[in-house]
This record gives sequence, C-alpha cells and structure tokens, in this order.
Amino acid sequence: MIERYAFGNVLETGAVVCKPGCAEGAVPFLETEEAGRRFSFHMGSGDRVYGLGENVRGINKRGWIYESRCIDDPYLLESRRYLYGAHNFLLVDGSVRFGVFFDCPGYLAFDIGYTRASLLTVTAEEPDLDVYIITGDSLTDIVRQFRTLVGRSYIPPLWAFGFGQSRWGYRSADDIREVVRRHRELGLPLDSVYLDIDYMERYKDFTVNAETFPDFAAFNREMKDQGIHLVPIIDAAVKVEKGYPVYEEGLEKGYFCKKADGTPFVGGVWPGNSVFPDVLNADARRWFGQQYKRLLDQGVEGFWNDMNEPSVFYAADRLEQVRGQLEELKDRPADGGLYHELASMPQKLSNPLEDYKTFYHNIDGVPVRHDRVHNLYGCYMTRAAGEAFERLLPDRRILLFSRSSAIGMHRWGGIWQGDNHAWWSHLLLNIKMMPSLNMCGFLYTGADLGGFGADTTEDLLLRWLAFGIFTPLMRNHSCEGTRLQEAYRFENPNGFRHIMGLRYRLLPYLYSEYMKAALDGGMYFRPLAFDYPDDPHAPQVEDQLLLGESIMVAPVYRQNADGRYVYLPEPMKQVRFRPDGSVEEQVLSQGHHYVAIPIDEVVLFLRPGRLLPLAAGGCNVDQVDFQNLTCIAFPANGRAVYEYYHDDGITKDYENPANRRTLRVSEDQ
Ligand code: NOJ
Repeated sequence: MIERYAFGNVLETGAVVCKPGCAEGAVPFLETEEAGRRFSFHMGSGDRVYGLGENVRGINKRGWIYESRCIDDPYLLESRRYLYGAHNFLLVDGSVRFGVFFDCPGYLAFDIGYTRASLLTVTAEEPDLDVYIITGDSLTDIVRQFRTLVGRSYIPPLWAFGFGQSRWGYRSADDIREVVRRHRELGLPLDSVYLDIDYMERYKDFTVNAETFPDFAAFNREMKDQGIHLVPIIDAAVKVEKGYPVYEEGLEKGYFCKKADGTPFVGGVWPGNSVFPDVLNADARRWFGQQYKRLLDQGVEGFWNDMNEPSVFYAADRLEQVRGQLEELKDRPADGGLYHELASMPQKLSNPLEDYKTFYHNIDGVPVRHDRVHNLYGCYMTRAAGEAFERLLPDRRILLFSRSSAIGMHRWGGIWQGDNHAWWSHLLLNIKMMPSLNMCGFLYTGADLGGFGADTTEDLLLRWLAFGIFTPLMRNHSCEGTRLQEAYRFENPNGFRHIMGLRYRLLPYLYSEYMKAALDGGMYFRPLAFDYPDDPHAPQVEDQLLLGESIMVAPVYRQNADGRYVYLPEPMKQVRFRPDGSVEEQVLSQGHHYVAIPIDEVVLFLRPGRLLPLAAGGCNVDQVDFQNLTCIAFPANGRAVYEYYHDDGITKDYENPANRRTLRVSEDQ
C-alpha cells in the first residue's frame, strides 16, 4: 500500500509517475515536527535501514548522517555525507517494515543514528515536500511498489552490456584506433570506447575537434565496422564564445540560468567561462535535448552526461571579488597570516553552495532560485537528452548515463558512480552501492573499474573486473595523469582475457535479469537479507550479493588475498570458471566456507532449483549467440528452472510474450 502526505507548497520534481490522492491524518511510523521540516522514527536495536542509492558506507545505512546535496567532489571518502546523487528513498526493516520516499527538489539530511543511536531523523531545508509511506509483505514487495510509483527504469541497448574502455586522455581518432587494435589483437573483448572531453573543440558541447577527429561520421562508421560504439561525453556547461551556435542560440532565446538582474549566470568549467542551460524550463530543456542530434546525425548511439550537479569551478562574479582581494594582498609582507589568507583562496573561489543561491530557473514563468531545486539539475539535463531521443528516434534505444541524478532520472538513463579511486576500499564501496541504487530504480550502473583517480595495480584491476563483469555498466575509466590501465598494459593478458571474456558467456543471464528487473520493478542486485528474511546471519553480510533469480556473487576485495570466506544461507552449487575454459561445479552445504579464488578465476554460487544459462562468448555483443545456450543446473527435487528473457536489444518491444520462455532441466533427462 502506498500513501502520500503533502506538506507546504510542493514543487513538482517529476519523480513520481502516478500520484495517489493525499492521505488524511498523521504520517504512519514517523513523528512529524515543525510542519514537515522534520520527521523522526525510533529504531529498535535490531532494525536495519536500507536505501539512499549513491552514497558512502554500508548497505545498512545506520550509524551515519547522509545528505541529499548533489556535488562534484572527487573524493568518495567515508567521512563524506553526500555524493553526486539525491536518492531520498529509505527502507526500514525490523520491528516494523516500511519504505519512505521524500519527494522534494532541495536539500535533505538523514541522521540515521548519528546524533542518537536509536533515532532516525530526516530534516528538510524547506518544508515543502511529499512523503510517501509504502508497506508490503516483504522488502522486495515494498521496492516493487515504490518502483511502480516512480516508473520503469531506463533500458539501454544490448551492446551497452558489453565492455567499454575509457580514459580521460584519449585525444584523437588514432588514440582510439590504437585502443581497439590492442584489444582485438590480444582477444580482449570490447564493445565501446568512450570519448572524454578532449574530442571536443575547446570543450564546446556537441562539437568535434576537426583536427584530431577529421570526418567524425566516417570514423563512427569505421568503428562500427569493427563492432565498436563511440560514446562521447556531454558536459552541462556551455562555453561562452561568440559565434558558437549553441551559446548564441541559447542566449538569444533566454535559455540559460539567470541571475537576479536577468543576465546569465556565468561560471567556470572546462571551457572557461560558461553558462548553464535552464533544463528545468520545458522549452529550454527541449532545445538543449535537440542539440544531441548534432552527434546522433554523425552515427553516435550513446552519451554520458557529466559535470551536471552542476559543477562550477568558480562563479565569474566571485572570481572578480577574489582578484580584488589578491590585489589588496599584493604589498603585504609575507608571514603566517598572509600564507593562511592565500591558502584559503581556492575555497573562497569555488564555493558552489553559496553560488547556487545566485541564479534562477524559469519554471513555468516563475523564477525559482537554484538552491531550492538544486538536486534536480543533473536529472533534468539527462531527461532533456532522453526526451529528445524519444522524439527523434522513438523506436530505438540510445545509451545514456549521467553523473548527477535524482530519483525520476532512472527512467531516462543510468548513472556511473563518479570519481572513485584505485583503492581496494572503493571496490568494496562499488559492491555495497549496487543494491542501494537498484532499490531507487537505478539499474544501469557501475563504477569506474580499476579506479578513476590514483594509480591502479594489476591485481586490483583483475579483482575489480571480476566483480565488474556482473555490473550492467562495465567500463574501465581513469583520470589523466594516473597509470595507464587498459587491460593490455599489464603482464597477464590471459587473466584479463578470461575474466572479461566470461562477461560475454554470462550475458544471456545478465541481460535477462536486467530486463526482468526493469520490467517487473525488481532489483538486479539484492542484499542477502532481502531473500532470506528469517536467516539471522543474512543481514550481517554486506560483501556478497544475490544477482537475479539464480546466483550469488562473493567478490574478493582485499589485496594479496587468495580467496575469501563466503556465507551460504542455504546449500548452493559453487561454480568455478578457470582460465583454461573449464568449469568446476561443487555443491557446498549451508554455512561458512573458505573459498580459494586465484587472481585469474571467477567463482559464483548457484541457488537450489535454479539454472544458469551460458553462451559460448564472443569478442563483442554481436558475436554472442543468445539462443544456443548451455545450462549449469543445481536441481532441487530433481528439477531446475529459469525464466529467460531475450529480445532484439535495439527496439522497444519489451512486452512481447515471445521474449520470455522457461528453461527447464530435470535430473531424469
Ligand atoms: C569528471 C568525470 O567524473 C570524469 O569521469 C571525467 O573523466 C572528467 N570529468 C573529465 O571529463
């Protein structure tokens, strides 16, 4: 059951697709204070709190304070309270069980036992919001109802489930050709190469540098002939430059965010002084979305939207203030005081939280200050693109994912998990974030495999890939200046070939599970506690995940470990994929096991009565045969079944009954 309680003057966020009428009376489970500004819940000692999508720390969110305040900060540290997304959905499980969604566009704080261990308090900066309370038979049932409320998750094209190679630093068509050649030569599978900001002409959105990428359309064709999709980045900010059509046209039509005096807000991002499309305005959003056509027309079929919190390195007005302050300091003698003043300059320069209060959106003719709707910006930038694709190519799927997001955006695109580091702790964070994101509707997601910042190591990349082969978005991406981390840079191409190749053997299962999760409101990754509610150990396990109906994964995330302890909530079949292509199957009893997992092997666990369909593999998705499958089975009572989904991976005929069939294995066959 879903009930909606409204407080104040609710600003439409677009998160919900079918709004129920307003319920009367007090909000169940929560104590409401200050007319919608604060909501509290007294947690029992064993209660668990799940949700909040993209965030630091555990699957159980108890014991920390989190905020919804989308920001670009390239350190996903445990001490952080907020990252790039605003995912205001929580699930409480224990003495009572309910889901709660706070639908609002501004800042929120979730104190989940931080100030007082037994108290969960949600505080809104502005008391204008809808609170949805969802009750149901189980956690998955509540999630399913929530997902009906917020609408079907985004579905990418099938090729986007293949492996993608990316790096901030690929500068030319020849750089890309080299990446493709090295993968193909070594038999490392590859479906896409990502274009970071250097493909553009002076970082101008929707342009291509004609010197480094002469004839971009022909280059796209050349790549497609080799089974490769190019996926360019699009940044939120539009360069201020006379004669640049996107800038000139947006300026003329008044489509950029404006300051109180009516002039466009100017902030610095990669291109220097830039303006910010008012994607919360319906006309501006349509116009900005239409710009993607410039690249679609050249054969592009996928995009990643970046810097859309929006990231503002400096506000032009503040830059001028700071310049003035520097001028004043010019003649001051050097001492500790001067040092401190100078050292604090970068913070003074870039203070987006204050700068967000200096510009406005035009929402249906009403000026709305940015900080009040801040958390929607990345969501609406991606929506601009998604709506344009539906207009321009209604029958085709286009790959789209974003860095910043809010619930609602899950209908238009996926997300990647931002600027992580080549740290083992961030591999674990990636594992824990997956189910939290899935609850909130974000299914097409993954982290920068190998780590974006800092130098990776061969073992970290191999272990990360051994988890990444299971995440819908599987992309190796890194920052310029860090160690080069394409798989072919390392000593052990066999290990990489085996692990990355396994993705293509598992694809029928992974795609099938993705589609079922999207179409049925399910979770692709689930914590053990969701499926084994009566098992007292299950809630303790945060480093193993159930994936779809058949399997459980238990990745290695510690350096120099030759395996790990795995908890089996019931007997399962351990399936070991060896680099020589052989597959070893062994039934393990319920309980704790130490499982050896050499660096170039992948182990997964098959549940009783279930099947795992496998393809022969391939070097890109086109080569994978989704029809002729072999099955690994773990029969229970002599039978194992699996509901298999497959479609053409290109069009949108999702509901066609021919897409689903049941695979069966009986022991007497
Ligand atoms: C920040 C993004 O998070 C990162 O992935 C990208 O490489 C850089 N921007 C440069 O575009």
